Amino acid sequence: MKLQGILPFARSLLTSAINTGEIAIDATVGNGHDTVFLANLVGENGQVFGFDIQKEAITNTTKRLKEQRLDKQVTLFHKGHEEIVASVPANVQGNIKGAIFNLGYLPGGDKTIVTQPNTTIAAVEQLMELLAPEGIIVLVIYHGHPEGQTEKEELLSFVKQLDQKKAHVLKYQYINQENHPPFIIAIEKR
Ligand SMILES: C[S@@+](CC[C@H](N)C(=O)[O-])C[C@H]1O[C@@H](n2cnc3c(N)ncnc32)[C@H](O)[C@@H]1O
Repeated sequence: MKLQGILPFARSLLTSAINTGEIAIDATVGNGHDTVFLANLVGENGQVFGFDIQKEAITNTTKRLKEQRLDKQVTLFHKGHEEIVASVPANVQGNIKGAIFNLGYLPGGDKTIVTQPNTTIAAVEQLMELLAPEGIIVLVIYHGHPEGQTEKEELLSFVKQLDQKKAHVLKYQYINQENHPPFIIAIEKR
């Protein structure tokens, strides 16, 4: 057998949670790879809502989605994910089946623009209310850069205190690799 790598494991969690016609969130759109993945999972009768604070990310991902004819089922917001409750339509609330956060900086972009613990935690708190029961939030945590180290610590403290009656919290991490490899926190709403 072969153990699943971090990104394949993140995707297999999302695949298990989200079916055709359902609703998903890409909380950090970036270059749009996860947005495309989610758009294919939900299909043309489903909906994906994506967030990014960088115009470049929204522009590049809009283009990528159009090229792959996936733009109809995706709405992108040039806003922070901490504005999620105020941004998604009311009928979506309570029906979201899965969300992904790929934290850190935009690969190939400005490395000084990184996700921040306070806004990441605010978005996770809001999503906990918006998820359907058994919906899942997957966080891929990059902690090789200094801000990533702080974000990792604050996120771990936050998720460890979530009420186990309300959420299952999983950590998936390779513990004998060098250079701070990314790891996953997955939160399943009960
Ligand atoms: C690691 S990249 C995402 C990679 C992306 N998932 C992909 O498939 O290419 C992290 C992204 O988070 C964005 N970001 C930073 N703070 C944010 C916030 N508060 N809300 C939404 N996106 C944010 C950055 O602009 C960056 O594009």
